[in-house]
Amino acid sequence: MAQHSPHHSRERVREIGGMFSRLVPHYDRMNRLMTAGRDGAWRQIAVSMSSPCDALVLDLGSGTGDLSAEFRRQGAREVAALDVSAAMLRRAKAKYGPDRTDYLVGDAHRLPFPDESFDVVASAFVLRNLPDLAAALHEMARVLRPNGRLVALDITHPPDTVWGNMLRLGFEQGVTRVAGLVSGDRSAYRYLPNSLDGYPTADELARMIEHAGLSGVSYRRLSMGAVALHVGRKC
Ligand SMILES: C[S@@+](CC[C@H](N)C(=O)[O-])C[C@H]1O[C@@H](n2cnc3c(N)ncnc32)[C@H](O)[C@@H]1O
Repeated sequence: MAQHSPHHSRERVREIGGMFSRLVPHYDRMNRLMTAGRDGAWRQIAVSMSSPCDALVLDLGSGTGDLSAEFRRQGAREVAALDVSAAMLRRAKAKYGPDRTDYLVGDAHRLPFPDESFDVVASAFVLRNLPDLAAALHEMARVLRPNGRLVALDITHPPDTVWGNMLRLGFEQGVTRVAGLVSGDRSAYRYLPNSLDGYPTADELARMIEHAGLSGVSYRRLSMGAVALHVGRKC
C-alpha cells in the first residue's frame, strides 16, 4: 500500500471529507442503489457479531448514521458517531436525533479519545477511504478496552472467479456511472472503484488488523464476495 507523508495524508483526508460532504443529499439513495438494497442487512450482521448489548461503541466514519442506529437498535448503551464531514453528521442528527449518541467531527487517524475508551469500535465502508490505513487501525485498537471488539465492514476485492470478475466489471462500469449520473457528481463516484486501488485484499486486511494488536481476527464475505466483514478482539 502507498505510504503518505503526514501532511499529504491530512490534505487527502480533507479532500475525501469534502467529497463526502457534497454527496450528503444523495448519499442514502446512492447507498441503496449501489448495494441493491443490501446495505441495511450487512450492517445488521456486522452489529450482531460485535456483542453490542450495553456496549459503549465508536462508529468510525459514521456518515448519515445508519450503523449507529443499528447499534442502538441492538442494545448499545451509547454511541460516539465520529466523522470527518460535519455535513454528514448534521444529516445523521437530523435523521436520528441525539438519543444515546454523541456526534463528533474527527479524523480516524487521530482519534480524540483516551486509550481503552470503547467496548466496540466499528466502521462501515470507511477503511477504503483512509490514506494511512495502518495508522488508523492502530488508533482503533488503542481506543478499545481489553476484551473489546473491532468490526469492519467494507467493499472488498472480488474473488478471482468468473462471478468475481462479473462483480468487478459491474462495480467499475455500471453502478458507479449510474450513481454518478443520479448524484450529479461524477467525480465522486468515479472515485469509488478507484478507492479499491492499493486497498488490501481481505486476507491482507486481516493480517493488518492483527498487526494493529487484535487477536482472533477473521472475516466472512457477504453477498457472494462483494463485501467483507472483519472481526477481531483485543486481549
Ligand atoms: C462511504 S461513507 C460510510 C458512512 C457510514 N459508515 C455508512 O455505513 O453508510 C464513508 C464515511 O467516512 C467518512 N470518512 C472518510 N474519511 C474519514 C476519516 N479520515 N476520518 C473519519 N471519517 C472519515 C466520510 O466522511 C463518510 O461519511
